[in-house]
Amino acid sequence: MVERDVEKTIEALLEERRTFVPPEEFTKQANVSDDSFYEQAEADPDAWWASQAERLHWFQKWDHVLRRDPPHHEWFVGGKLNASYNCLDRHLEENGERVAYHWIGEPGDKRTITYAELHRDVSKLANALKSLGVRRGDRVAIYLPMIPELPAAMLACARIGAAHSVVFGGFSAESLKDRINDADCKVLITADGSYRRGGLVPLKQSTDEAVKDCPSIEKVVVVQRTAEDIDWIDERDVWYHELLKDASIDCPAEEMDSEDMLFILYTSGTTGKPKGIVHTTGGYMTGVSSTHNLVFDLKPEVDVYWCAADIGWVTGHSYIVYGPLANGATSVMYEGAPDHPDKDRWWQIIDEYDVSILYTAPTAIRTFMKWGTDYPAKHDLSSLRLLGSVGEPINPEAWIWYQEFIGGGKTPVVDTWWQTETGAIAITALPGVSTLKPGSATRPYPGVFADVVDEKGESVGLGGGGYLVLTRPFPSMFRTIFGDDERYVKTYFDKYGNETYFPGDGAKLDEEGYYWLLGRVDDVMNVSGHRISTYEVESALVDHHGVAEAAVVGRKHPKEGETIVAFVTPKGDVTGDESLMKELREHVGKVIGKIARPQSIIFTDDLPKTRSGKIMRRLLRDVAEGRDLGDVTTLQNAPILDEIRAKSESQKASEG
Ligand code: WTA
Repeated sequence: MVERDVEKTIEALLEERRTFVPPEEFTKQANVSDDSFYEQAEADPDAWWASQAERLHWFQKWDHVLRRDPPHHEWFVGGKLNASYNCLDRHLEENGERVAYHWIGEPGDKRTITYAELHRDVSKLANALKSLGVRRGDRVAIYLPMIPELPAAMLACARIGAAHSVVFGGFSAESLKDRINDADCKVLITADGSYRRGGLVPLKQSTDEAVKDCPSIEKVVVVQRTAEDIDWIDERDVWYHELLKDASIDCPAEEMDSEDMLFILYTSGTTGKPKGIVHTTGGYMTGVSSTHNLVFDLKPEVDVYWCAADIGWVTGHSYIVYGPLANGATSVMYEGAPDHPDKDRWWQIIDEYDVSILYTAPTAIRTFMKWGTDYPAKHDLSSLRLLGSVGEPINPEAWIWYQEFIGGGKTPVVDTWWQTETGAIAITALPGVSTLKPGSATRPYPGVFADVVDEKGESVGLGGGGYLVLTRPFPSMFRTIFGDDERYVKTYFDKYGNETYFPGDGAKLDEEGYYWLLGRVDDVMNVSGHRISTYEVESALVDHHGVAEAAVVGRKHPKEGETIVAFVTPKGDVTGDESLMKELREHVGKVIGKIARPQSIIFTDDLPKTRSGKIMRRLLRDVAEGRDLGDVTTLQNAPILDEIRAKSESQKASEG
C-alpha cells in the first residue's frame, strides 16, 4: 500500500462487502443497459452534454457548448429556451391530459392536475405577476407549503423570465426576511397557512413579520389554503384566486438566454449568512432532465414517481418540479408529515397510487426503521420498482432495510450524491448497470469528473481516503453566489485552484473505484492522529440491532486529539443502560476497530436536527465540550438539546 500522510488523510475504516448486481429483468427494460453513455461522455464530454441538451426544446440553438473561464463557465452559449415552456407547453399536444401531479393534502383532500391544467394556471399567474409589475430579470420570493400553487408559482416566474427564490415553509420570519432582502425580491407569494401533523402553521403571520422589514417587496400574493383569519394590508396584499380570476390564459414564454438566471436557492454554509446559490436556465435544465431520466429509469407513460422531499430544498426544485416536468412524468406530491394521521401514511399513498419510483432521504428511512416494519407491512408496496436515496451518506443497515422492507427485496436502490450547488445528481448508480454496494454512491454520472485528493490536491488513488473534488465543469453547476462572487471563489475554489471544485465532502475510493461519501469534512474527527468520519462510527452504531439513530462528534482531548462522543437513540423496546453502552463500544470496536470506540455514549430520545432533517453535529459538539450553544434557530426540535446537555454533564461528572 502506498504510504499516506495519516494526519492529512481521512482514514477509511469501514469495510462494506455486500454487493447487488442489477436484476436481469430490470436491465432488459432499463434506459441505460450498458456502459456506452459512460464511454461516450468520457471520450467527449461536451458532445455528451450537447446530446443531453437536445432533450430540451430550444427556441434557438447554441453556438458553443461550453465556454471556459475558470472558475466561471458558460454552457450552451447563445442558445435560447424557456424552462416553463420545456416543462409544460411542449407536452400539450400529445400529453396534455397526462397527470403532472397527484396531489394529496395532509387533511386528506386531493387534487389531480394534468399538464394542460398546470399550463393554464401557470400562464394566468404569469400574466397576473406581470400586472403586478414583475419584469424579466426581477426576483420573486415564494414561501408556500407543499401545495400545487408552489410549482405553479415557480413556473410562472420562469415563464416571464423572473428568478424565483423559494424559501422553505418551515423557516422562520427572520430567515425569510434575510433571504428576501439579500435578493431584493419585488413580490412575495405565500399562503394564509399550512397544515403540519394536524396543526396549523401561520405562514401569513410570519410573512407579515418578515415583510415589514423588507423594503423591496411591493406586493404579497396570498394563496388561501387553511381559510383561517389573517391580518390584511389592503395596499400590499392580494388574493391569489382573485388575481387569477381575471387573468388571461395567453402568456407566451419569454425567450431566455441559456445563461439567464432561473432561480436562487439559499443554503447554509459552515459559517456566516446563507449563500444564495444561483442557477441558470440551459445548463440546469439539461442536468435535471438528463439525470431524472437515467438515474430514475423513467418511463413517463407508465411510471408514478414520488420524490418525498420538500420543494423548499434543492431536491424538490430539481426532482419534484423541473426534472420530472421537463420529462413529462406523473408525480405524487404530498403536503404533510409521514406520521399523520398514522405512521403508515407514505405506505398507504404508495399503495393507493401504485407509486413505482420512490426518492427519499436516509433520515426518513431511519425514522421508519425506528417505527418498525408493521407499518409498511400493512400495505401492498409491490408497485415499487426503484428506490432512491439522497441528502447524506446512507448507512448500509438503512440501505438494506429500505430495499428489504420497502422494496420487497427486489428493487435497486440508487444512492445519489449531489448538492444545492451541483443542481443535479453528480455521483450515483444507474440502476440498470451498476452493481450496488450499500453505502456507496458508486461512480460519477456520465459527463461528471471527480477524484479523491489529499490536502495538497494529489489523488489518493484506489483504496485511499481524502477530499472529494469535481475536476471538470458540467452544465448544472451553479454559476455564483448571488451578490457575492468573491465568496463563491473563496468558498469553492480557494483550496485547490480555479479548475477544481471543492464540495466540502470527505470520500473514500475503494479498490474498484467506487465512491464512498463520508459526510462533510467538518464532521471529521481526529483521534490519536487518525482521521475518522463521524459517519463511519454512526454507521457502525446503527448497525447494532438495538440502535435506531446515532450521531457522533469529537470532543477535544489533550492526549488523543479528540475522543469520540456518541449520541444514541435506542429502538422503541430497548433500554439505554450500562450494559447496552458496553455492548455498543464493543460492537464499534468490532466493526471498525478499537480506535473508533466512543469514549462516551449518551442515550437520548431524539437528536437535534435542522428542518431538512440533517443532524446538527455542530451543536452536539458544543454540548460535548460544555460550550455555550451557537445558533439554534434553524432546529426543528430545539428543546431536546437541554435534555441532552443535562445527561452529558452528569455523565462527564461520573467519568471524572
Ligand atoms: C450531503 C442535497 C452522502 C453531502 C441534494 C453534500 C450526501 C450535502 C448525499 C448537500 C449522498 C447529499 N451521500 N452525502 N447520497 N447526498 N449529501 O445542498 O454532504 O442540501 O455536500 O443538497 O449533503 O446538501 P444539499
